[in-house]
Amino acid sequence: MKILVVGGGGREHAIAWRLAQDEERHEIFCAPGNAGTAAVAKNVAIGAEDVDGISKWARENSPDLVVVGPEAPLVKGLVDALLSLGIPAFGPVAAGARMEGSKRFAKEVMKAAGVPTGMAETFTDAAKAKAALPAFGLPVVIKADGLAAGKGVIVAETKEQAEAAIDDMLVGGRFGAAGAEVLVEEFLHGEECSILAMVDGENAVLLPSSQDHKRIFDGDKGPNTGGMGAYSPAPVVTTDRLPFIKEKIILPVVRELRRRGVAYRGILYAGLMVNDADSNPHGPLAKSGSTVNVVEFNARFGDPETEAVLPRLGGSFATALLHAATGALRDEDIVVSDEAAATVIASSGGYPGSYEKGRSISGLEGDDPNTIVFHCGTKAQDGGIVTSGGRVLSVTGRGATLREAVDRAYARLGRISFDGMFYRKDIAHRAFER
Ligand code: AMP
Ligand code: GLY
Repeated sequence: MKILVVGGGGREHAIAWRLAQDEERHEIFCAPGNAGTAAVAKNVAIGAEDVDGISKWARENSPDLVVVGPEAPLVKGLVDALLSLGIPAFGPVAAGARMEGSKRFAKEVMKAAGVPTGMAETFTDAAKAKAALPAFGLPVVIKADGLAAGKGVIVAETKEQAEAAIDDMLVGGRFGAAGAEVLVEEFLHGEECSILAMVDGENAVLLPSSQDHKRIFDGDKGPNTGGMGAYSPAPVVTTDRLPFIKEKIILPVVRELRRRGVAYRGILYAGLMVNDADSNPHGPLAKSGSTVNVVEFNARFGDPETEAVLPRLGGSFATALLHAATGALRDEDIVVSDEAAATVIASSGGYPGSYEKGRSISGLEGDDPNTIVFHCGTKAQDGGIVTSGGRVLSVTGRGATLREAVDRAYARLGRISFDGMFYRKDIAHRAFER
């Protein structure tokens, strides 16, 4: 197949790499890609959010499939544009991507579908939002309705913090239009995990579970980032929970969207909070009464979850993606290996605050079947590879056990270096503490 992958981060490198592992040989392109995707695909110099540019390329090159990585082009209607050209595209249309693009819309759909989630109310008026706070207790979560590059969620420990966050968004215009509406939401106690479901408009197949590490420092301290590492499977998602997640969370959303005239195709990513005697730490049960609640939905593969999940998939990945994109997904399309995988992000010093780019990276060469070095923010320069983003590399290890996978990832990472390189040393700690 001729396949275009849209995006230029670790997730897209993992997608392109996994496509290149298929037995069937594909012709793979990546727009815009990075120095890592260049090894498995042909980079095309078009920005991921350039809907017109990508549509034009697709019209001229007639790919068999376009796989859209990031949320921004999905929300902007890239898939709608490709479908209007008759080109199969993996990812939801804009009306479906609202599950990620508008937290208010996602709550409305969940409510209509009876999906367990935190209680929430939406406000455009700061005084009314503040007046509602006492009903939510503390901590309380304040969220911008729209896309805010992962920064639009404030977990407030005190009333003052909550009020400041409300003022920041509704009065100060901190996130512009994305923060013109805010949600005040019940704080959910428990352990988070990610379930990526592949959806074809009607049916869904769950990919293996995973867990992300959002904070910058060990022990889940410090500011939130795009994700500092992930592993799969996540033991918090015990096998007996999977039918509940599929039947009571994923499929009801897909059905509710259909009822609203939206065929959701692509990845429906459920960020879940699990709270029961087996999860750690645990606190009061959610008002929904459920031990598994939705924290958020994303309309795409997670990053860095993808770098840990895709190396565990067997079979023809291109066929699975094409089947989902064309409404023909079957359970057999997803084959999962028993191996575990863990990925560790190497970031630029200073990230998620300001950081420098253009630092030369050494130690990337050398083959090792048990590890894969995915590039997140790199570019080729003067015959070498330099840093070009906050998250630079995502180093994945595979093994018979999670411990082996983690050890292999760290051993590989130990041979890589660049000025200011930083990484967490405790990826998968929750699984090991169990
Ligand atoms: P989101 O952008 O919605 O994924 O939120 C970012 C992070 O904030 C999540 O990964 C959680 O760690 C935290 N968070 C969001 N909503 C809640 C909630 N209702 N209860 C507890 N933590 C939350
Ligand atoms: N790893 C979190 C996300 O992709 O949103």
